[in-house]
Amino acid sequence: MQLEAVSSTDRLRKYCEKLYHLSIECPILARGVNTMARKSLYMCTECGQDFSGWLGRCTNCGAWNTMAEVPDTKDKKKKQAAQGSWVQYDEAESNSKPLIMNEMEADVQRRLRTGIDELDQVLGQGFVRGSLVLLGGDPGIGKSTLALQALGSFPEETTLYISGEESAEQIRLRANRLGLADKAIRLLTVTDFDAIEKVLTELRPQLAVIDSIQTVYSSDLAAAPGSVSQIREATMGLLRIAKAMNITLILTGHVTKDGTVAGPRVLEHMVDVVLYFEGEKDTSVRLLRAVKNRFGATDELGVFEMTDRGLISVTETSALLTSGRPRHIAGSVVTSTMEGTRPLLLEIQALTVASPYGTPTRMTQGIDRSRLSLLLAVMAKSLRVDMSQFDTYVNVTGGIRIAETAADLAIMSAVISTFREEPLHLNAVVLGEVGLTGEVRAVSQMAKRVEAGTKAGWNSFVLPAAGRERMKRFENTQNGDVKLYYVSTVQEAFDLLFSGKNQDV
Ligand code: TYD
Ligand code: MG
Repeated sequence: MQLEAVSSTDRLRKYCEKLYHLSIECPILARGVNTMARKSLYMCTECGQDFSGWLGRCTNCGAWNTMAEVPDTKDKKKKQAAQGSWVQYDEAESNSKPLIMNEMEADVQRRLRTGIDELDQVLGQGFVRGSLVLLGGDPGIGKSTLALQALGSFPEETTLYISGEESAEQIRLRANRLGLADKAIRLLTVTDFDAIEKVLTELRPQLAVIDSIQTVYSSDLAAAPGSVSQIREATMGLLRIAKAMNITLILTGHVTKDGTVAGPRVLEHMVDVVLYFEGEKDTSVRLLRAVKNRFGATDELGVFEMTDRGLISVTETSALLTSGRPRHIAGSVVTSTMEGTRPLLLEIQALTVASPYGTPTRMTQGIDRSRLSLLLAVMAKSLRVDMSQFDTYVNVTGGIRIAETAADLAIMSAVISTFREEPLHLNAVVLGEVGLTGEVRAVSQMAKRVEAGTKAGWNSFVLPAAGRERMKRFENTQNGDVKLYYVSTVQEAFDLLFSGKNQDV
């Protein structure tokens, strides 16, 4: 028995050896090995994903018929671009010696201040020389206007405006509107990357605008202009130029709401500074926010007003977004938020209606939806206000997003106000974070927020009692007109705002 088993195992081993040997020789497998070793030669023109072979449908983004062959080049420059490096190929080899940090020049002198206060503030004292700045925003928000205004504040021989979107005549008309008619700004309407590189090399401006990055294309790539691979390639090339020639480049870029079309979001990580222009088309207020800044803070907000003579910096913003607010309306409460170092008064609106479905809708604009759910839960437990049968909508006016918890008490008050169909009895600015047990917690920079409110004409404030100590100095500087009401629980705030009880100052 045992003998037989050994011999059968042996036979099996021999058979396997034979098979193994065969597999090496197998032409199908051999071809498979070769395919693995080949470099990637195809790219999806929608999402930029590389593939080793042609596919009818991109397995990354699902788009059909988007494969394009990428020329397998031995060219150093292209190879370096493909590797994602902005350092010149030869330079990279010769610059391998480390620098000593404290022996390097400080970059204090290397900022380009535009004189447009709000823009300089968001950038952190102006543009850094040799940086790549992406200015994103919806079409028609004012990107080209701001870029042209920024150029207009420097000597003509140091700037260049490259446009692929508008004709020279259109840009000239805009410059006239902006009061830049006398400026001899250099203008170029090209879209080819090689032409842009050539002119930047020849003219060597300090500051150049490329309007927009979506129109720049490189003829080396098969992909269509505006596709992700073109945008990525163009940005990579411009990054190399900006760093090698010390030119500050402003790239404008359209962002689509859904973000599905090739947008500038894919290149956020490549550039030094990302600014987003926000605002609602039907109002003239425009907000400039730094989403990324390698040379400064990202929480700064620039406020502009779009006028018939271009964008104007708005420095006094406290009443900007609450000025047209109707008084004594249920569901509307004003709070004071901090945008970077600047306090901003905002109106929070809420609406509740009986829900026709089993699961009520919670919809928010400008605040986190899960934060609303949390506040509704606290309301149910601490105030016995049950919203489980009601759809709840909360909106922050002016298109602003509140990222901090200081608006909790105001959101809750707005919801209760609309639910009871009762405007606040006390016409006050409401501040405070709400904790899970129904306590009202302190918020940062209370005095600054209250001060902004008083500047905008408010004289009643509902504040967390936990921050009372920190308000002493502010209280001493005020005359009797300003009334500060301190609350420590949501119940106290509720009594104060809706029935006028507990009105000790
Ligand atoms: P624009 O800068 O062309 O927007 P983008 O480059 O972001 O697409 O600005 C377009 C809008 O701005 C347009 O609706 C007109 C308005 N505008 C003014 O109100 N005043 C002005 O002085 C200028 C130049 C534009
Ligand atoms: Mg434009």
